[in-house]
Formats: sequence, C-alpha cells, structure tokens
Amino acid sequence: MIKAIIYDSNTGFTKQFAYSFAASTGLPIYTLKEAKKTLNKNDNIIFFSWIQADKIHNIKKAKRYNIAYAAAVGLRLYNEELVELIKKNSKVNNVYYLEGGIRWRMLGPFQRLMMKMILAMLKSKKKKNKATPDDIELINRLNLGYENINLDSLNILIEWYNSQKELVA
Ligand SMILES: Cc1cc2nc3c(=O)[nH]c(=O)nc-3n(C[C@H](O)[C@H](O)[C@H](O)COP(=O)(O)O)c2cc1C
Repeated sequence: MIKAIIYDSNTGFTKQFAYSFAASTGLPIYTLKEAKKTLNKNDNIIFFSWIQADKIHNIKKAKRYNIAYAAAVGLRLYNEELVELIKKNSKVNNVYYLEGGIRWRMLGPFQRLMMKMILAMLKSKKKKNKATPDDIELINRLNLGYENINLDSLNILIEWYNSQKELVA
C-alpha cells in the first residue's frame, strides 16, 4: 500500500504537481525532511522531484523508502529516450516524466549560471543549423521563462495509483 507522497522542489513547479496529485488521491504529502520524522524506512511512497543534469534531484535520499513511482519534473519536452536516460542516471525503474517550467528569479547564482551556459550552447547549435525542433523549443522556454504547466498531465499517474488501490482492496 502506498503510504505517502514525498516531494523535493527548487522553484515550485514540482510542489504544484505534487500537491495536485495529493488533492486527487487523498495521500498525505511531505518534504524529505518531514518524511524522515513521519515515515518508516522502506515505506511505499511516490517521490516527486525535479531534474538536474538529466538526473532526479535527491533521489538518493528518497531511496530510504520504497519508491513505487518517481515523478520527475523537467524543462525539456517529453521523449522516451529522455525518460530512459533519467531512469539510468537515477537508478530507478518507474519514472513518470512531467514538463515543468523555468523561474529564473528563483534560481541561485550557480544554477542561473548553469542554465545560461545551456542556453548559450543551444544558441550556438542553432547558429550552426544543428538545433532540433526540441532544442528550439527549449531555447524559447529558457529565453522567455516558462510557466505553462499542465496539471492534466498527472492523469495517467492518478489512474495508475487508483489501479494499485484496487489491487489491495
Ligand atoms: C541547475 C539546473 C539543471 C537543470 N537540468 C535539467 C535537465 O537536465 N533536464 C531538464 O529537463 N530540466 C533541467 N532543469 C530544469 C528544471 O528541472 C525545471 O526548471 C523544473 O521545472 C524545476 O522544478 P522545481 O520548480 O520544482 O524546482 C534544470 C534546472 C537547473 C536549475
């Protein structure tokens, strides 16, 4: 039985998804810090976190619990190879990818620098006519900031959660 949602969010997008999922499922929701005081080691959980350098942030800490699903929030457009890469880097099997956004004003100085470097690299690729349509979309999102998250993209994960409940009942 899944006991709770645990989330880790840097600028708020993952938190939005995790709270929306909590509202739809009725599961309790904790930060990693709160979970340590409340949950037991190896409890079944759903972990929501953001993607940093193609890896789920703080996945190591979440592995204290049994991760039934990891919901990974990134800025890139969804594609299957990306999900496989995230699974491999995070060493977790069940990954559900969600498109988040970018809030420049909430990034720390080092994070801002990293994102500026990625943007510069993508722009240079575009100049050489080597950018893919996904790269161009990412340039647009990074250039303008991106806030258009779609909470309906949680629906398949909610269906999966409901099917797990039925298995237990
Ligand atoms: C330092 C840094 C590295 C990032 N690396 C990736 C990445 O590899 N792939 C990706 O899709 N998004 C990447 N992002 C974008 C975040 O995953 C995205 O902004 C996400 O919505 C943040 O969620 P949050 O608001 O819950 O922190 C990166 C962001 C930062 C600050």
